[in-house]
Amino acid sequence: MNKNEFISIKFDLVNGLIQWYTRKYHIKLSELRDYAYDSNEVDKLIMEKGDYVIYEVYEIERPVVEGEMIFGVTRIFPGVIGQEYNFTRGHYHVNKMAGEIYVGIKGCGLMLLQDLQGNFFTEVLERGSLIYIPGKYAHRVVNTCDEDLVFLFAYPAIAGHDYELIKKCGFKKVVLNIEGKPTIIDNPKY
Ligand code: F6R
Ligand code: ZN
Repeated sequence: MNKNEFISIKFDLVNGLIQWYTRKYHIKLSELRDYAYDSNEVDKLIMEKGDYVIYEVYEIERPVVEGEMIFGVTRIFPGVIGQEYNFTRGHYHVNKMAGEIYVGIKGCGLMLLQDLQGNFFTEVLERGSLIYIPGKYAHRVVNTCDEDLVFLFAYPAIAGHDYELIKKCGFKKVVLNIEGKPTIIDNPKY
């Protein structure tokens, strides 16, 4: 194997910073409008504070062929959109055989998981959590604490991402800050 095919980089496990990546992108408040529990709160916040970044992703891309893996780090900033804690859009993998691993590096929150049959689960995602997500489960992460929530992810390059279903119906439940406590309630849009 050609030495250039290896990737060996430094990863700051305290702050969740990777030294090298091939793609960085961020998702701003306005891009969560269709995913939010209350889209009016998104509009209100943009008027008040402008369109700020909710989370950023640092990814090491690989060719989209069987056997390859894509991996990187996601950082969700703390905060609420109305009562709803900051969250990632969430998605299904197009290839239902493609699972994923998340490892919590910093901060704390919840992972929401659901399948197409309507089964729904939550798992705590915090520093030291290791979560394996079987390919059929849509997954979203919610930052319920007052610091950055950072996690490492790794998934097969051929997974593919389907956001449409989540954009339309969301997850079965949403996580709201009610009287200062993370509270899981039914999503009326689901
Ligand atoms: C890839 C994966 C993560 C997320 C990232 C942003 O399969 O699960 O890399 O893509 O945390 O979340 P989304 O893609 O849901 O906006
Ligand atoms: Zn995924």
